[in-house]
Amino acid sequence: MKVTVVGAGNVGATCADVLAKKDIVNEIVLLDIKPNFAEGKALDIWESSPVNYFDTRVIGSTNDYSKTANSDVIVITSGIPRKPGMSRDDLIATNAKIVKMVTESVVEHSPNAKIVIVSNPLDVMTYAAFLAAKKSRNEVFGMAGVLDTARYRSFIALELDCSPKDIQAVLMGGHGDTMVPLPRYTTVGGIPVTELISEERINEIVERTKKGGGEIVNLLGTSAWYAPGASAAQMVEAIVKDSKRIFPVCVMLEGEYGMNNIALGVPVKLGKNGIEQVIELQLNKDEMALLQDSAKAVQKVMKTLEDMKLF
Ligand code: NAI
Ligand code: 2OP
Repeated sequence: MKVTVVGAGNVGATCADVLAKKDIVNEIVLLDIKPNFAEGKALDIWESSPVNYFDTRVIGSTNDYSKTANSDVIVITSGIPRKPGMSRDDLIATNAKIVKMVTESVVEHSPNAKIVIVSNPLDVMTYAAFLAAKKSRNEVFGMAGVLDTARYRSFIALELDCSPKDIQAVLMGGHGDTMVPLPRYTTVGGIPVTELISEERINEIVERTKKGGGEIVNLLGTSAWYAPGASAAQMVEAIVKDSKRIFPVCVMLEGEYGMNNIALGVPVKLGKNGIEQVIELQLNKDEMALLQDSAKAVQKVMKTLEDMKLF
């Protein structure tokens, strides 16, 4: 199994590092446009192999896509991250062009690869990559829900002073402040969270989750990478192991939740074929209204992409 990670910056290098430590693929190619950057990061990760105990070869490439040939999975993290005061949507002018060009290049060399988009604004970059790749929606999808639910779950663990391992949750919608964490589908060791935490506190945790990306930007001056890199690596693991995990993933909707022609976060089954099933929950009226608001926010950014006339 071979995995390519495009963008050797904070998220891409972390994803490669986490994936190497999992020791589940033969080769990881890290590619970046910045001269020698990916080579340096890849060599550093490879030099950790005797200590971290993995066999996965990690190699770097400065924009040479021939090195990525025949990858099984490709993770696209290339682009600029946000700075304080910026929203994810402010990144579109730069990142849309990068994501289009990178997607076309990786597909040319790995026509059968499953492609995981990470670059922001995530939902619209997933849509752009889907258009650029000219592949089925099962093969081109975005990482956001795994990260956003991880944040939500980690906050619940803090609240209850319990293990984050026991917290399961679903979160839907766009990767922005309109994302929709779903307390009704959140459990702690099988117990509904609504029986353990007051509605008021749950609402506060939901609000913190929605702004979780911004919380880190304000602390660091750039966006997060440990949790995002690990989340992307977890999706790669589900694909290469064909483990059929149920994750919230950004995928083109084809009538599910009454929506079409939009990439939005929904629960899916992830395995060797990529998205193997889109799961349709019976949302109540309030949850559906929140999902529709989130879709509207994504559609606004899609309009900016349309105006760029890249496709
Ligand atoms: P970074 O600046 O550390 O790394 C980005 C890398 O992309 C740089 O090394 C840059 O040289 C490279 N790059 C730029 N243009 C390229 C091209 N044409 N070909 C190959 N490489 C290229 O940024 P970071 O923090 O790694 O974030 C990357 C992206 O991921 C950002 O757009 C950020 O907003 C997004 N992000 C998304 C998350 C999600 O949940 N979906 C979470 C965290 C970040
Ligand atoms: C995050 O949520 C910025 O999308 C990035 O951390």
